[in-house]
Amino acid sequence: EDPSGARVFNLEIKAGTTPLKAGRETATWGINGNFLGPTIRAKRGQEVAFSVYNGLDEGTSLHWHGMHLPAVMDGGPHQEVEPGGDWTPQWTINQPAATLWYHPHPHGRTGNHVYRGLAGMFIVDDEESEALPLPKTYGVDDVPLIVQDRKFHDDNQFDDKSPFMSMQGVLGDHIMVNGTLGPYFDVTTRLVRLRLLNGSVSRLYNFGFADGRPFSLVATDGGLLPSAWETDRIQLSPGERVEIVVAFEPGETAVLRSHPADEGYEGPLGRVNGAEDLLDIIEFRAAGTLADDTAIPEAMGAAPDLDPADAVEERSFSLSGFSQINGESMDAGRIDFGVREGTVEVWEVSNADGYMHNFHVHDVQFQVVSVDGDEPPERLRGWKDTVQLVPKRKYRLAMRFADYTDPNLPYMYHCHILAHEDTGMMGQFVVL
Ligand code: C2O
Ligand code: CU
Ligand code: CU
Repeated sequence: EDPSGARVFNLEIKAGTTPLKAGRETATWGINGNFLGPTIRAKRGQEVAFSVYNGLDEGTSLHWHGMHLPAVMDGGPHQEVEPGGDWTPQWTINQPAATLWYHPHPHGRTGNHVYRGLAGMFIVDDEESEALPLPKTYGVDDVPLIVQDRKFHDDNQFDDKSPFMSMQGVLGDHIMVNGTLGPYFDVTTRLVRLRLLNGSVSRLYNFGFADGRPFSLVATDGGLLPSAWETDRIQLSPGERVEIVVAFEPGETAVLRSHPADEGYEGPLGRVNGAEDLLDIIEFRAAGTLADDTAIPEAMGAAPDLDPADAVEERSFSLSGFSQINGESMDAGRIDFGVREGTVEVWEVSNADGYMHNFHVHDVQFQVVSVDGDEPPERLRGWKDTVQLVPKRKYRLAMRFADYTDPNLPYMYHCHILAHEDTGMMGQFVVL
């Protein structure tokens, strides 16, 4: 804590090497370590103060993905930290409990910086979440899983080349969880809560257990669902998170996999994002006896409650050409539009070219109001900040811009396929 009562976090971004495979160590980047970054945890109402030191020899930034905060603290392309420089954002956590994450956002180089290893979890707690009987002992029955893929050269260095003729960015054939190849987890409790993050630059995952066991979806990007939804698959595009609760039997072994996609990506257009792949993600090894003192409550978070009828503005966004939204590429000097603080807007977003895209908005969590005019599927009924765009469908998103205004500094909206974001599939808005 500093004298003002803010909780202080010191983060140092640096280059190093990591023993990922037998033989030569891999050149990696990390935050307070050589690969990936620490889990940051803070509670609603708490003031947080960061000191971000850039120990790299190029500029970068740290963006708090999913966080509601002033634009000047957002860590986007307008808050790049130069080599040897410091950045000290500070804000008060002002949103429900959720699994967020952080990663660099330097314009044109986000994919490269994330791929080298700059990413971490940011967990927000609140009074309500702490009172629930859900599993919540970090690292024991409440486990963050940063799921990423990498491709390696023969000398164990990361290969960052895209597949032949692909504009989607690198697709790895090695799965890493929390920076580890061939990961496993020792289960000591009957129920385990997994905070899953698709931290890949381009890969689509369709998570499900090898034995088909069901699990409960308890949270999406922006926080806990009103009630759990039982399923055996959950598809996540880059940047999306979910929390699931899984039950294990004493002594058993279970494997979480990524299965071929359920929605929208058959054939070559999906192949370049791995939509046809079947991959093992992580193995769970249960102890002979399991503690059993947690539960999935009937009621958890608050349901998204925006009324599209309250929208003061409707906008539409069409993503196409790997680098454009509504026919234009990102221009750091162009603010695309301004929204009014305290108002609700409805954004209609669609994938016009059939390749894989998703849509992420900074500062807000949005409500998926409809998909092609229909009620959204169960998995999209909670608060979201990133949504996969199945080709040709229209996604109507309601969002409310609150608390923070800045006439000059924008927030971003973009495709979170990082190769697309980097080539300009991004726009900027200010809150007035
Ligand atoms: Cu995950 Cu604009 O970022
Ligand atoms: Cu973001
Ligand atoms: Cu895209």
